[in-house]
Amino acid sequence: MKLSQKVQDMQFSPIRKFNAYAIEAKAKGKKVYHLNIGQPDIKTPKAFMDAIKGFDSEVLAYAESGGLVQLQDAIANYFKRFDMDIQRQDVLITNGGSEALNMIYTCILDYGDEVLVPEPFYTNYQTFISAAGGKIVPITTQAEEGYQYAYGDRIEKAITEKTKAISLVNPGNPTGTILSREEMRVIADVAKKHDLWIIADEVYREFAYDGREMTSFGQLEDIKERVIIVDSVSKRFSACGARIGCIVSKNQELMSNALKLAQGRLCCPTLDMIGATALYELEPSYFNEVRVEYEGRRDAAYEEIMKIPGVVCHKPGGAFYIMVKLPVESSEDFLVWLLTEFEDQGETVMYAPIQGFYGTAGLGRDELRIAYVLNKEDLVRGVELIRLGLEKYKALGYK
Ligand SMILES: Cc1ncc(COP(=O)(O)O)c(C=O)c1O
Repeated sequence: MKLSQKVQDMQFSPIRKFNAYAIEAKAKGKKVYHLNIGQPDIKTPKAFMDAIKGFDSEVLAYAESGGLVQLQDAIANYFKRFDMDIQRQDVLITNGGSEALNMIYTCILDYGDEVLVPEPFYTNYQTFISAAGGKIVPITTQAEEGYQYAYGDRIEKAITEKTKAISLVNPGNPTGTILSREEMRVIADVAKKHDLWIIADEVYREFAYDGREMTSFGQLEDIKERVIIVDSVSKRFSACGARIGCIVSKNQELMSNALKLAQGRLCCPTLDMIGATALYELEPSYFNEVRVEYEGRRDAAYEEIMKIPGVVCHKPGGAFYIMVKLPVESSEDFLVWLLTEFEDQGETVMYAPIQGFYGTAGLGRDELRIAYVLNKEDLVRGVELIRLGLEKYKALGYK
């Protein structure tokens, strides 16, 4: 018996790969600051729980495969804030943004088809695209360039007759890079010229800092038939456990074919959809406080990171991640050492080494991602532990 090549091509989560070391460190009594995962600590709005408490049917029945109509409408209304004309039929509710991605790739890829993805990328893209029989063609970005990728010539160079889509996360995970309107235009023009889909994963849309505009690829009228938006309540409303996301597209052929997949898995959890409706109905002002909090954390983390000698770090404009390039040969080895050998006053730190976020072998060995999802004090202490650890690591002669 043999497993499929598709599943063998997938990788285990590079974020979770080092958990065993952290568990061992904790068992030895060390406190570990987790800067490695994107689980926000912001409270889920009470409106979510209240809406679920108000559920009074006697049977928890299947819902429509495309989602509860009131949730589809709430999402369509939410997009009006961005001057987008989204109707109920343009919204398909999914089990998180994850299922939205899975369905989209299944809908657009045949075996051997290629998807352009700026690297480093959210690692599950590898899993979703492989599962659909496709292949990632990475658009490599550089720490020194702030991980920018909207360069028409570089993108065009990677296009072949098998290229079906440009898939991007904006604001970005893991880089925090955020596209300006001009940069979105560059990508839109390439997609138009080569007849490609744009899969715009916008699950971090509201996390745009320093007065940057919150945008959506859906705002570009001339490409609305080729844009597929991925959305989710997980990060936006700090409701990762709700498992509610959606596909948003004006392309009705795509939407009606995605519905076949939705019908195959029957429906999304009814109670979570009821809670999510209340979230999308929150006033836009809800985000102001959250944004200020994250922006403050980003600044605090960045300031502390810049105290590390030899570091390369670009202050990101969005999402809640910062990429850091350290003067080490391997950020994976350094992490294992931090968790197994190092401590400062009984404390150590965990981050996400970034090598597994690249599709190109050998890249990112000296880079890591910090998720600024902890309160400022813990965040600063976590980064300080990286600096103190690095000093010791170097003093011991490690490279
Ligand atoms: C870029 C990006 N897309 C999609 C997801 C999927 O999230 P969920 O399935 O919880 O909506 C995540 C989660 O971390 C993410 O970072």
